[in-house]
Order: sequence, then structure tokens, then C-alpha cells
Amino acid sequence: MNPLANKTILLGVTGGIAAYKVPLLIRDLKKKDAKVNVVMTENAKKFVTPLIISTLSDRLVESLWEGGIPHISLREEASLLCIIPADYNIIGKAASGVADDLLSTVISTFDKEILFFPSMNYRMYDNPIFKKNIKILKDFGHVIIEPDTGELACDEEGRGRLPDISRIMLEIERALTPDLLKGSYCLITGGGTGEKIDPIRYITNRSSGKMAYSLARHCFMAGGKVELIMGITNIDYDRNLPYNIIRVENARDMQKEILKRWDRVDYLFMNAAVSDFTPEKVSNIKIKKKEELEIKLKKSIDILADLKNKKKSQFIIGFSLETNNLLNEAKKKMKEKKIDLVVANDVSAIGSGSTSGFLISKGSEEQFECSKDELSWKIIGKISSKKY
Ligand SMILES: Cc1cc2nc3c(=O)[nH]c(=O)nc-3n(C[C@H](O)[C@H](O)[C@H](O)COP(=O)(O)O)c2cc1C
Repeated sequence: MNPLANKTILLGVTGGIAAYKVPLLIRDLKKKDAKVNVVMTENAKKFVTPLIISTLSDRLVESLWEGGIPHISLREEASLLCIIPADYNIIGKAASGVADDLLSTVISTFDKEILFFPSMNYRMYDNPIFKKNIKILKDFGHVIIEPDTGELACDEEGRGRLPDISRIMLEIERALTPDLLKGSYCLITGGGTGEKIDPIRYITNRSSGKMAYSLARHCFMAGGKVELIMGITNIDYDRNLPYNIIRVENARDMQKEILKRWDRVDYLFMNAAVSDFTPEKVSNIKIKKKEELEIKLKKSIDILADLKNKKKSQFIIGFSLETNNLLNEAKKKMKEKKIDLVVANDVSAIGSGSTSGFLISKGSEEQFECSKDELSWKIIGKISSKKY
């Protein structure tokens, strides 16, 4: 599911320093098959040249007086308007209904979704007049994407940085994705857990966390409120994402974090590969090198089995990975642990971008062989349509 395919995105670029990032955004939008039209303010042209923008985009409209009625035709063609960077000035103009150039006039006609990406020095951002203008825009239903905090172009630290392009892309994708999970709290676990042997070593498994990151991204795109509890993973996807990521190491900590949130959960995606075994004894000093070492393992906690008795309206999506009897083992797990939907994966899914197996719910099973992103979307489609 690519929400950008064949959609026209209209970008409004204003005179902020972060305008230099817009060509990179256009490139990423085009890679995802979107059509990109652009309007720049006169001051934006001092930060990034119209030549770069017109070369990369489908169309750059430079002025209200270019011919035709651009503020009407640009609106008609576009699915979404993104003001990026949205400087102090355009936020003020939009909030007070000023239409004195092409961009502000386009905003005045644009009755579809508008995303504003403010970016400025933190003093401008903290100005009470600006805060009031932001509130006005929010009250009119416009979406404001909060800037990041960090190093600013003026060599100062504070809130006002334009988020990374990957984050901006995610917000645009979210705006164009059907709100299948609107307002639902989606708790996702992922990665492997590690069970300590001594202060330095643990036993773990090969789970990569890719599926959980994909689920989090797609639940967010579908309008869900997302939190991700991530065990051991060597994938560094979690910088600058718009949802909370809680890092844990072992099964007990993962269980604790789930229980803290349990009463709020609408959907639990139990995707983590939780260790089935844990060392019977943990050494509190490093075990020295020797010819042989025997580690006795005992059964670890079973998070899903324990949740069975606490289940009220929560919908549980369980993941099962087997080398043998995939379907039968998954069905057994579903019944024993009161899971609503089981995703039975073949072992080849570990660490890979694609996966194959079965989606199993009461009375139905569907075979799949697809990318993890496609599988995330299939699962969301299924749970939101209550076809399980
Ligand atoms: C070097 C420089 C950098 C600027 N960066 C920003 C910025 O990041 N955000 C902002 O709101 N204004 C910034 N400004 C101020 C705007 O360019 C100014 O308010 C201008 O009138 C905006 O015009 P426009 O909204 O029509 O593009 C900057 C000005 C200069 C000279």
C-alpha cells in the first residue's frame, strides 16, 4: 500500500532557512510515485533556487499573475497542501486570512487537508503571538507538525528545527492513508529478548525487529496512537519517529511495560520473539574462560499466556514462528492463549524484508507471501474491518 501513488502533493515553500531541505523531499515524494507541484514565496527563492525546484518537481508556479487562475487550478489538482518550511510570517498570514501573494491565496482556497511544518528560531517559536496563531489554525482543523528540538541554523539550541525528511514523509503518508485505526491505542512489541547469563552475556534469538517497526509505521499511518516496546534489535530505525519507543532487554521487563499500559490497549501486536528459556542462575561476576561451561535453562515467563486472564476488550494479534507444523502449532497457540488473530510465519522471515505464512482467525485462514510492509497493511485491513 503506497498512499502517495498517483496523488498530487502541492508544496508551499516559504522564506525559512530549512527551505534548503525541500529538494530532498521532492526527490523522495517522486520516488514514491507522487506528482509534486510547488509554489514558492519571493523570499523562499533567496534560500533555494527556482531552477532546482522546477527541475526536480512536476511544476513550479511562480506567481499569481502567471496566466490562468493558479490559486484555483492548483487546489483542484492537489490531494494535500504542505507548507514546508512554514515560516513565522505565513503562519500569521494564514491565521489572519491574509491573501497577498500566490501561496497565501492558494491557502485561502484550499478546503482539503493542509499540513503546516513550522521551522524557525526558538524565540520566534516561543512568541505568544505565534502560539496564538498556531491555535487558530488548529481550531480550524489544520494539522501542525511540531518542529524538533536541537541545533538551529543560528548556532543556538532550541525548538524550531524542521524534522528529518523521513519523518516528514511519514506525516504526509499518514495524511493520505485511510484512518482505519483512528484513535485506537496500538501497543506493539518487537525484536528479541535477552536472558542474562552474567553481567556481560545473555542468550537471545535472531529476531530483527523489522516486522514491529513496519507495524508501528503502518498503525501510525492508519491514524492509530502507537507505542512500541522494543527488545534487542540492531536496526536503528527509531530516531525522530513520532511515537514512543520503550527499549527493554528481557522478557520480564517487556511484560512489565505491557502491563503498565494494558488497560488502555485496543490492539496488542505481540510480535516480539520472547525467550522461551532463561538461565536458572545468573552469575553476578563475569564467568571466566574455561574448557566447558554448562548453563542450565528453565522455562521463561509466557507473556501471552499470562495476559489470557486479564483480557477484557483488548484485541490480541499473536505471531508464531515455526520450523515444523506451522499451521497446526499456530492454531494450538491461538486456542490456548485466547489470541484473536495469529500470524504464522515461516522461519525464512527472520531478518528478511519479506515473509510468508498464514493469517489465522476463528474459522478462517489466509495464505500470504509478501513484504513485511504489505503484511502490516493486510493485518490492519483485517482487524479494522472486523473480518476475523
Ligand atoms: C538568513 C535568514 C534566515 C531566516 N530563517 C527563517 C526561518 O527559519 N524561519 C522563519 O520563520 N523566518 C526566517 N527568516 C525570516 C523570513 O525570511 C522573513 O520573515 C520573511 O519576511 C518571510 O517571507 P515569506 O513568508 O513571504 O517567505 C529568515 C531570514 C533570514 C534573513
